[in-house]
Amino acid sequence: GQWGDEGKGKIVDLLSKNADTVARFQGGANAGHTVYYNDQKIVLHQIPSGILRQDCNCILGNGMVIDPIGLIEEIEMVKSYGVDCDHAIHIATNAHIVTPIHKEIDLASEKASNNKIGTTGRGIGPTYVDKYNRQGLRASELNNPNFLNNYLETKLNLSINSGLIDKSKKEAIRQDFKKFIKAATSIYQYVSDVFKLVHNSKNLLIEGAQGTLLDIDHGTYPFVTSSNASSAGIGTGLGFPMNKVNTIIGIFKAYTTRVGKGPFPTELFDINGEKIRDIGKEYGATTGRERRCGWFDAVAAKYSCLVNGFTDIALTKLDILDDFDTINVCTHYEINNEKTTSFSKLINQLDKVKPIYETVSGWDQPTSGITNYSDLPKNAKTYIDYLSNLMNTKISIVSTGPGRNDIIRTI
Ligand code: GDP
Ligand code: IMO
Ligand code: MG
Repeated sequence: GQWGDEGKGKIVDLLSKNADTVARFQGGANAGHTVYYNDQKIVLHQIPSGILRQDCNCILGNGMVIDPIGLIEEIEMVKSYGVDCDHAIHIATNAHIVTPIHKEIDLASEKASNNKIGTTGRGIGPTYVDKYNRQGLRASELNNPNFLNNYLETKLNLSINSGLIDKSKKEAIRQDFKKFIKAATSIYQYVSDVFKLVHNSKNLLIEGAQGTLLDIDHGTYPFVTSSNASSAGIGTGLGFPMNKVNTIIGIFKAYTTRVGKGPFPTELFDINGEKIRDIGKEYGATTGRERRCGWFDAVAAKYSCLVNGFTDIALTKLDILDDFDTINVCTHYEINNEKTTSFSKLINQLDKVKPIYETVSGWDQPTSGITNYSDLPKNAKTYIDYLSNLMNTKISIVSTGPGRNDIIRTI
């Protein structure tokens, strides 16, 4: 629903209890999805958050960009928790592959840029560039080490000749080729035609990564990721039509955070921002960077609801606001002495808008771990209703802590 890190991992892990398949359709190892398994914190980057459920198939869809080295490490990590996942992982034949060269281009272009995006450095943008330039490497091509070696050597030379990579980096990057080829040929065992599985699943759960405001088309461009993170990416990223999707759950934090650069109208630079960061442990699950924190932005949230067609909302991290006397919610933006609720109109001027807030009373009581709606403090219920009205969408899930069971559900 927002700029990522809303708690997708937790909610997908929860909902995957009733799913036979969980599929990702975009992004790659830029994602960091946190799940708790037997009280242990696990951060997933590429494997869908259904992996901890027995008998749940996990699909890495064609819209993803897959980093073989990272994926092998992630599979080993999941196995170290006693989860036997080999049979569960399915990679689409036409998913694109991130190589060490793409990662280097990502880092080098960020370093050289005067308009830094603050990427995760995982090679996401450059891999999508190759995909759309019809020069990408696909999962179906990972079984031939000689072919891979030729591909890498040619691509490295081209990247140096075109100035994307500095010549001095050549040997260091070549050092990684062996490791890459080993990982790439090793993940080939998971590559298959996943189309049937997607279409024949009885209860398919589709997991987004990043957030709508980071969507390449609908986000705060150019400070976005390089894929369609909104629900619109499902059709292309999985080959699954939207008229077969019956529930679209938007996940929103009870406040807002953002990692990396780009406009953020409700960002707080005061003690409240620090308080949210401290209590909410708002540090990136992938890069460890401090997340920027701010109040809930209902202007952006309403836009996100329209872009995605959310049928339901999961509101997470309500417990982080337990200790606030008052809470602000941005209901309008102001620019040139005019008030507006139109996010799309101002999407290219967000750094100039002034957020207009409504102040609501806090509840000053713990909500942490509450599982029944009726047990919530009155003001917390009022806050949930208020956000639901502003977004014109029902809030059917409320998360009250990081654990699997810290949840209130009406669906
Ligand atoms: P994702 O990228 O959307 O999956 O979210 P991240 O995993 O990057 O960040 C969400 C963080 O909030 C993780 O550390 C979760 O364990 C934690 N979390 C999720 N829901 C709740 C909640 O309701 N309360 C608290 N206190 N933590 C939560
Ligand atoms: P999850 O799935 C938050 C941000 C980066 C940067 C921009 C572009 O955990 O919510 P990229 O490496 O994708 O080219 O970086 O997007 N970004 C995320 N921010 N959560 C994420 O994933 C993100 N994935 C990318 O910080 O601003
Ligand atoms: Mg995350």
